[in-house]
Amino acid sequence: MTKRKEMQLALQMVSGYGGEFSAWRMPGTDPAAYTNMDSYVERAKIAEKGKFQMIFIADTPALINDLGPQTPMFPMDPMLALMAVARETKHIGLVATQSTTFNYPYNIARQFKALDVISHGRVGWNAVTTSQPETAANFGAQIASRKRRYEMAHESIQIVQALWGSWEQDALTIDVEGGQFADMDKIQPIELEGQYYASRGPLPIPPSEQGQPVIFQAGGGEEGLELAGSYASGVYANPFDIESAREHRQAIRQSAARFGRNPDDIKIYAGFMFSLGSTEEEALERRRKLMSFNPEEIPSRVSYLGSMVGLPLSVYSVDIDQPLSADMLKKAYANPIDPRSHRALQLLKQGLSVRDVLAHGVINYHPVVAGTPVQVANFLEQWFLASACDGFSIVPDISYDGVADFVDQVVPILQDRGLFHREYEGKTLRENMGVPYQYGRIN
Ligand SMILES: Cc1cc2nc3c(=O)[nH]c(=O)nc-3n(C[C@H](O)[C@H](O)[C@H](O)COP(=O)(O)O)c2cc1C
Repeated sequence: MTKRKEMQLALQMVSGYGGEFSAWRMPGTDPAAYTNMDSYVERAKIAEKGKFQMIFIADTPALINDLGPQTPMFPMDPMLALMAVARETKHIGLVATQSTTFNYPYNIARQFKALDVISHGRVGWNAVTTSQPETAANFGAQIASRKRRYEMAHESIQIVQALWGSWEQDALTIDVEGGQFADMDKIQPIELEGQYYASRGPLPIPPSEQGQPVIFQAGGGEEGLELAGSYASGVYANPFDIESAREHRQAIRQSAARFGRNPDDIKIYAGFMFSLGSTEEEALERRRKLMSFNPEEIPSRVSYLGSMVGLPLSVYSVDIDQPLSADMLKKAYANPIDPRSHRALQLLKQGLSVRDVLAHGVINYHPVVAGTPVQVANFLEQWFLASACDGFSIVPDISYDGVADFVDQVVPILQDRGLFHREYEGKTLRENMGVPYQYGRIN
């Protein structure tokens, strides 16, 4: 009998507090989690207990939000946070984002390979081209055209992979008797020179248990698809409905096939946020509380919600604690410009108040389920069985209890339904993702 296919789970580690910016003010949260590596380690250990395949850290090296009311969006430094986690965990994968535009390939190759060796083959690199002007400014630059950024990305990844493969696999001998630490005939320069980047190599780091780190990709357009198809074994995506998720997954798989790869060797993780409660009302109350910390944001959210459903909504024209009138709902439609509009309209039509529709996270960066563990598991099952993704990159609203609650309450449901593994399949991230061993440059 063939084994039923199982989903994979990545835990997004945001700044230490959770996916909602006001999570730091919730009772129980460590308000200093941003600078306290223990909080990252603790969450990672819980995710490992729940058999998550990996932790994923998104990143851009810039301050891009208002630290008055909000916490930073990313850890102080993703690689250093993962280093802290690597020493305290054994199985979980460790994936960090680094820009192909604002790093020399040699630095990327060195840092990721070192962490891969230190963690015994558990590391992945989310290679992004970076589109934030704030980041460019930190490097005295401006955001280049997409064409140029993706040309740089191809060169960067090719050089990084070549550096990772610059040792033959048995080059490290550590022969104390014979006095030979490594066989220098098996460690060769790479001598690569492109239009933007060059490197002589070799990298002074031996292979890890998985050969070299796994490449991930996140981002859009034809160029993004080509980058993913060429090199990535994992893709982080942000679809808002099953249909667009399926299309995106198909496009990525076809791109992999175009580059001579097996489409099954590239796994797609859909972003997803949850708020758990023992009832849907309890979960919603948790999100109302999160919203209540930033009342100044409500007017702009209400007008944005209006634009999603084709109505001129404002806090002055409607009572946000009431459902919209039947007259207004008759005129409402889902604005095709925003893929989240359908869900917003659906909730308004169910008779929820404007505040509660917002509390459901309809303007969130990810699809949100505010509900019971069964409701969350149902959502994941539905998407997964519809081939919308190979797994999920999940972000709890609030990390301090959200990760543990997911592991204790949602993971067992998924396991009982045969949708999630009960044990790690192997020791390395590649083994646990079910993607092939790779060494050196591909494509
Ligand atoms: C799920 C997902 C995660 C992403 N994570 C990051 C990130 O951590 N850092 C970053 O700079 N960009 C990130 N991006 C942005 C993309 O890499 C890309 O720059 C963006 O989609 C703009 O597209 P472009 O590069 O094709 O212009 C992410 C995109 C998606 C869809």
